[in-house]
Amino acid sequence: MTVRTALVTGANRGIGAAIARGLAERGVRVWRGVREPGDLPNTVRLDVREQSDVDSAVRRVLDREGRLDILVNNAGVTDNGQLPASADLGRAAAVWETNLLGTWRCAQAVIPPMRAAGYGRIVNVSSTLGSLTLMDRPTEPGYRISKASLNALTRLLAAELAGTGILVNAASPGWVRTAMSPRATRTPEQGADTPVWLATLPGDGPTGGFFLDRRPLAW
Ligand SMILES: NC(=O)c1ccc[n+]([C@@H]2O[C@H](COP(=O)([O-])OP(=O)(O)OC[C@H]3O[C@@H](n4cnc5c(N)ncnc54)[C@H](OP(=O)(O)O)[C@@H]3O)[C@@H](O)[C@H]2O)c1
Repeated sequence: MTVRTALVTGANRGIGAAIARGLAERGVRVWRGVREPGDLPNTVRLDVREQSDVDSAVRRVLDREGRLDILVNNAGVTDNGQLPASADLGRAAAVWETNLLGTWRCAQAVIPPMRAAGYGRIVNVSSTLGSLTLMDRPTEPGYRISKASLNALTRLLAAELAGTGILVNAASPGWVRTAMSPRATRTPEQGADTPVWLATLPGDGPTGGFFLDRRPLAW
């Protein structure tokens, strides 16, 4: 059986660390993209705002493993505390730089080797707060818009890559107890379940979808 290789962004804590553990438990060789790598094995410096970090992280995984089958775009920040009518747009733009452009940058870097291999799984960790259908509260506007945009990016990439063997999907982890949401009720492992499922889909699995608890979620 082929052993797949994955790169997980923001894998040092929270949901990203749980996704990395979940993939490793399923026999995937996992590289952790983190901003402060230290000397831990299978860890690469990866600030998703930095094109040079993204390029060198992808090159390092390819040099060491000869393949990069799975990208989990998990790194994310929020502008909790803002409201849209008064929001500091600089704060909102900083969220878009990480959550949307960081994800887009990482996807662009892995698509050429995935295309060459005829196989890829790209999972964008989105949020129920990015669902336009469910967007009935004004909180965290920069964050909500970043995740709605990330969902749009998921659809666009899936459409462009249809038939290439690369599946692109978005996942909401639910409300998960991490530094981002300290009062939440789910464990990081529960939040990681759907992203790990999407990262290990069979070839006839869905693409261009948005899922919570392995079920479609309203856009
Ligand atoms: N917790 C929830 O209820 C919830 C719900 C829906 C969606 N999500 C999504 O789940 C993902 C993980 O969030 P979490 O709850 O695990 O939050 P978290 O504990 O705050 O973790 C966020 C992770 O993102 C990393 N990160 C932030 N900016 C980065 C950058 N520029 N480059 C690389 N890494 C960066 C952080 O690294 P540092 O340690 O270096 O800061 C950290 O590893 C996010 O995309 C979030 O939007 C969370």
